[in-house]
Amino acid sequence: MEIIVCKDYKSLGEKAATIFAAQVLEKPDCVLGFATGSSPLSTYAHMAKLCDDGIVDYSRVTTFNLDEYYGMDPTEEQSYRKFMDDNLFTKINIKPENTHLLSGLTQDPASECAQYEKDIAAAGGIDIQLLGIGHDGHIGFNEPADDFANDTHLVDLIPMTLEANARFFSSIDEVPKQALSMGIGTIMRARKIVMVVNGAEKAETVKQMIYGPVTPKLPASILQFHQNVTVLLDEAAAAKL
Ligand code: F6R
Repeated sequence: MEIIVCKDYKSLGEKAATIFAAQVLEKPDCVLGFATGSSPLSTYAHMAKLCDDGIVDYSRVTTFNLDEYYGMDPTEEQSYRKFMDDNLFTKINIKPENTHLLSGLTQDPASECAQYEKDIAAAGGIDIQLLGIGHDGHIGFNEPADDFANDTHLVDLIPMTLEANARFFSSIDEVPKQALSMGIGTIMRARKIVMVVNGAEKAETVKQMIYGPVTPKLPASILQFHQNVTVLLDEAAAAKL
């Protein structure tokens, strides 16, 4: 596990975007895995700048996002589809049809999840997966559990996650209670993983992820077993290392 401490959130995003840029330059038709939430925003801002400056061409890139709220209409403000369109996809020259998110409106979550796994495999697998981390150590929406979930699946969100995500809704009661998420296996099959973490409130979780036991009670700890992980931290998130 490579750990890089950046001086602040902006430089962390620049570094992450540079790693993705190198991947696209090396393999223009690469497959990228993306995340939502606050952590990747500075990364997406710099990706957009590198595209705007004519340095990175996303026209042949395919993407798969980690997760989507179950029951969420993609046109709704809080949908992860809307988040990705607003914060990245409309700001780079990617083809909309090459961007994939799970459908929160599916009537058949099991088939939707199985098809997502097939689509990722058919695209050749994910070259780099971007991750944030939850306060409880979740990655994607893989919450602390007794076992590591392998493939893409329907998840019950735990109270800590509902509270953390309530900031995007007018009240906590509006946060969907379930989500569709890549599994731990799906994430671990990515050839490279880049995690971005900022803020003092994640420092203890980061320390446990890196130095603690590998356990489904802290799902991100599984990354200790991945052979190509870069963790980018701002100084506050790295404070307990
Ligand atoms: C989002 C996702 C989540 C977030 C995590 C951290 O697609 O999969 O695992 O990365 O909840 O969220 P933020 O960055 O908002 O603190």
